[in-house]
Amino acid sequence: AQRNKVERLLAPLRLSRADLERVQALMKQEMERGLDRESNATSSVRMLPTYVCHTPDGTERGKFLALDLGGTNFRVLVVHVEEDNIHMANEIYVIPTAIMQGTGEALFDHIIECIVDFQMKQKLTGQVLPLGFTFSFPCQQLGLDKAVLLTWTKGFNASGCVGQDVVQLLREAAQRKQHTTLKVVAVVNDTVGTMMACGYHDPKCEIGLIVGTGTNACYMEERANVGTVEGDEGRMCINMEWGAFGDNGCLDGFFTSFDQLVDEKTINAGKQRFEKLISGMYLGEIVRHILLALVEEQVLFRGKPSHNLQNRDIFQTKFLSKIETPGLALLQVQGILCNLELDASYEDSVLVREVCRVVSQRAAHLCAAGMAAVVEKMRESRGLEQLTVTVGVDGTLYKMHPHFSQNLQQMLRELAPRCNVTFLQSEDGSGKGAALVAAVTCREADPCS
Ligand code: BG6
Ligand code: GLC
Repeated sequence: AQRNKVERLLAPLRLSRADLERVQALMKQEMERGLDRESNATSSVRMLPTYVCHTPDGTERGKFLALDLGGTNFRVLVVHVEEDNIHMANEIYVIPTAIMQGTGEALFDHIIECIVDFQMKQKLTGQVLPLGFTFSFPCQQLGLDKAVLLTWTKGFNASGCVGQDVVQLLREAAQRKQHTTLKVVAVVNDTVGTMMACGYHDPKCEIGLIVGTGTNACYMEERANVGTVEGDEGRMCINMEWGAFGDNGCLDGFFTSFDQLVDEKTINAGKQRFEKLISGMYLGEIVRHILLALVEEQVLFRGKPSHNLQNRDIFQTKFLSKIETPGLALLQVQGILCNLELDASYEDSVLVREVCRVVSQRAAHLCAAGMAAVVEKMRESRGLEQLTVTVGVDGTLYKMHPHFSQNLQQMLRELAPRCNVTFLQSEDGSGKGAALVAAVTCREADPCS
């Protein structure tokens, strides 16, 4: 009877092969609508043009500043691209929640202060270096150095920024702070930065994937298929913003009551619904809500309502990674739960581990369904029987979780059998990619030529 209760609760989270094929087909449909000038506004997948038209070819050179905003860490970097080497130095700066969710002016002033501090530490004060800005939020780009913020995502919600060009916001902050050496030449999404950074090492890298605080992907699309920008020649990188997939209701059948509870408590309820099934900012919360339901059903923690389990974000996604570590003794799982002041028996630990597995596997499989739509679309657009492509990947969840990458890759092989996909982990973040984009911009008047 106990087992039946558990099975009944977890059943909606176990997606069948047919479910994933359905998600893949929906993603394909939304991608096509997003690329189409007429139906673009009704698609939940924005398919944003990036004005990045080539992956690196090894001829990029120069010394650049880079900013990397929107993941776990805010970084300022100096990137030196030489003939056969890239040197980088970086500093991590904290962005307190009060600044993330305060005024736009305070946020951009803070960024300038960090740049000034960095330039001082690196002895770069006074030098005018071209700057590549990795800004990991959805932007309507009007060129490489003009990016209008469409909406904040993840934990950010600074006022007065939506609808504004973030490069302009940065320049205005520089003026306020009398910082006269700022020269922003390119803004890129983190997916694009990751694709470019990996593309420097592998010319087959034409896709960027992030599975971290948020999730998103970009890929090189035929320009003839991009109805939202002029021009038919060559390719352009498209920032999909797939985290918002389903925001128009097309995934409603897949959301469980736990997903609804998680979504309701976020600062952007109803938004980024696909992201909220997959990325690091949310998986721990899904697990916590399932555990609460299991306590309610009297099958966990002897049915004793644990006070601590009521606390939002107490169960962080890093605990999923730890609890699922192969070979980890149940005693250690018990220890982790004990640190959270959850009094777990041996059986409780087994059940918690099962819940973590179900949630992280669903995330990896949904990500595979999304990626299958991307690679199949590329294969079809290029008229190929078989596509061989590399995905540059970054993000804490992808890197730290013991099974995520394997689950993703295995399911992708099943869903897209005609695509031969290699995953290449980015080692040095997307700031490096932003610098490579900046290098091309500085060299060529029209980088898309
Ligand atoms: C980093 C990139 O390596 O990965 C960031 O440089 C990106 O730009 C990040 O946002 C994604 O991972 P996380 O886990 O920090 O959100
Ligand atoms: C969110 C952002 C997106 C970013 C992703 C990964 O989905 O909207 O721009 O790429 O997080 O950081």
